[in-house]
Amino acid sequence: MIITGKYPNLRLRRSRKYSWSRRLVQENSLSYNDLVLPIFLVEGKNKKIPIKTMPGVFRYTIDKLGQIVDKAIKKKIPMVALFPYTNPKKKNEIGSEALNENNLVCKATRYIKKKYKNEIGIMCDVALDPYTLHGHDGILKDDDILNDETINILSQQALIQAKMGCDVIAPSDMMDGRIGIIRNILDKNNLKDVQILSYAVKYSSSFYGPFRDAVGSKNLLKGNKKTYQMDYSNNDEALREVALDIKEGADIVMVKPGMPYLDIIRKVKDNFKIPVMAYQVSGEYSLIMNGIKKKIIDKKTIFESLMCFKRAGANSIVTYFADKVDLNSFD
Ligand code: PBG
Repeated sequence: MIITGKYPNLRLRRSRKYSWSRRLVQENSLSYNDLVLPIFLVEGKNKKIPIKTMPGVFRYTIDKLGQIVDKAIKKKIPMVALFPYTNPKKKNEIGSEALNENNLVCKATRYIKKKYKNEIGIMCDVALDPYTLHGHDGILKDDDILNDETINILSQQALIQAKMGCDVIAPSDMMDGRIGIIRNILDKNNLKDVQILSYAVKYSSSFYGPFRDAVGSKNLLKGNKKTYQMDYSNNDEALREVALDIKEGADIVMVKPGMPYLDIIRKVKDNFKIPVMAYQVSGEYSLIMNGIKKKIIDKKTIFESLMCFKRAGANSIVTYFADKVDLNSFD
């Protein structure tokens, strides 16, 4: 701690007196470069379907994707993250639709790559929950999610997504050892430059509720995800997860959920000096959005919530506010 003086000579309020002065000493900043925009996909034509639990968020058919991707590119948002609402008829016990080269994510990836080339990055989730009848991220057998059998499928899913043109493979499944195996399979297939963003620190959280509704797994989910996602009481375990994933070849690590876990973001950043992404998840989004709609809080809360991630040490933030935040709301 460096102390440069004391009251009455030193008055920290001096620098807070005017907006120009506050801006002059501001330690962190927020721009569209810091944001990743999640996009939900749905089958069909010419549709943009509102998601009830997430006011202001929609599911897009592929032919309507241009509308939202154009907006992201215009704002210079560096990357979009794709999530499918899979037709329930295409779901089964082992989530085979995840390996279909013509599933929604693959089609959307091809569409965006063809139309926009490398103007914007594409991130794809690697997990089975949008595709299984039980809503879990892996293969379910006798109440257990099988680790190694799940990785077999996930590494195939990652390979297909990468072949379709996905830039950033993002395993969100929390199986042990999947980063190394996915890195291996990508390298063997000459996809050495495809990045891996590991959801390294993903807590088993009730804040994911609206997302599960958005991808259609909420009412299907049997039990909970506590045997693979982390216990939110834990701290050291987060660092062990990150250490393992870095060794296995992760380029970026994610901490998720976001705002209740800022302490973890700071710890990961201080300990590993690796790019850290935060995920402001669906429940956080909907709480803030509903508060604004009901006039309980001001819409400046959005900017504040995002700046807090930067202060905590995040390099970037996945947020459903990416296309909505007013970056001039600091005063
Ligand atoms: C699926 C996945 C989830 C989220 C991203 N990928 C949900 C879950 O693990 O149940 C949550 C995102 C959000 O809540 O916004 N593996």
